[in-house]
Amino acid sequence: MQLPQKHSATGTTIFTVMSALAQQHNAINLSQGFPDFAIDAKLGQLLEEAAQGGWNQYSPMPGLPMLRQAIAKDFERRYGVSIDADKEVTITPGATYAIYTAFTSILEPGDEVIVLEPAYDSYIPNIETNGARAIIVPLSSPGFSVDWNLVKDAISDKTKAIIINTPHNPTGAVWAKEDWDQLADLVRGTDIFILSDEVYEQLIFDGMPHYTVLQHEELRQRSFALYSFGKVFNNTGWKIGYCIAPPAFTDAFRRIHQFLCFSVNTPAQYAIGTYLSQPVLPDVGALMQQKRNYFLDLLKDTAFTIHQPAAGSYFQIAGYEQISDLPDTDFAKWLTQEYGVATIPVSAFYSNKKDDKLIRFCFAKKEETLKAAVDKLKALKPATVL
Ligand SMILES: Cc1ncc(COP(=O)(O)O)c(C=O)c1O
Repeated sequence: MQLPQKHSATGTTIFTVMSALAQQHNAINLSQGFPDFAIDAKLGQLLEEAAQGGWNQYSPMPGLPMLRQAIAKDFERRYGVSIDADKEVTITPGATYAIYTAFTSILEPGDEVIVLEPAYDSYIPNIETNGARAIIVPLSSPGFSVDWNLVKDAISDKTKAIIINTPHNPTGAVWAKEDWDQLADLVRGTDIFILSDEVYEQLIFDGMPHYTVLQHEELRQRSFALYSFGKVFNNTGWKIGYCIAPPAFTDAFRRIHQFLCFSVNTPAQYAIGTYLSQPVLPDVGALMQQKRNYFLDLLKDTAFTIHQPAAGSYFQIAGYEQISDLPDTDFAKWLTQEYGVATIPVSAFYSNKKDDKLIRFCFAKKEETLKAAVDKLKALKPATVL
């Protein structure tokens, strides 16, 4: 029987390949983006309390009201924006799902969506599954900033949406306020939607602020803003995220959501809602900045090149031009097999597999994990395999 090809991505993703390879070779896994340290014990206790306390049945379709209200309060406190918890917030099983649902709410066959690459790998399959086409705009090297003239050239009368991501996976680049203004200039007077993937909003370093699309009154009116608790509370396996969007967009989003999964894990929502309502929360950005600094310091004793320290997210891009001229995927596999450290080749984030000889490390790891990994990497001398 013939099965339809809903999107162009085929085979297993590099994330699965690298994690499997890491396991096979007993390598330290700095590839996939997840922490290897414990969550805040309080959050775990709250999950247990939820299960013991009877929070075990379906929650309302948009999400538990107490969690949506806690999110609205949190955004008011941190960003000074006012959000209607009933009409603008929907809880989802993670941000990947929220991105898919937002696309499905707006896309029709023949539409175009502008994607800035390198990019998180779910965007293009999501667009194509909805019968639309991704129009790729490369970010500029070496800083991975947006070339706004290229974005302008990519806009056509078929452009339905632009998806953006800051702080950025895989590069750790962060948008400045001016980037939002440039985007607003480009879409003013059009019907282009914005999907703003802000899953790393709190993982931002060196005193830099995160500007959310919700603070940009003009852009907010045309945007779905997408978030993941997994990334800020270090519990990626809980898969709880949310979408904040204007009431009419939220209605459209919920029309899809109610028939895709209807409602999201109730005890986890209760635990996160209660945790988020505490007067003081741990500074997750400071914790991750400490890890970035520790990792960068260790990397100084290796032959890897750091063109730019990550400004946000929990990823660091590194060049290996002093070590090898292998293509990046081969290099990453070789590094896992021979040196016991798994990473992700950056070409995996380009639809045309552009190879700039860069790899991505995830530094959301215990210090001992980072130290053990770099101890292995130190053995790589310049021109080891040239
Ligand atoms: C840019 C970006 N968006 C979305 C996600 C997915 O978040 P979630 O685990 O909540 O689906 C990730 C996870 O790696 C990501 O890097």
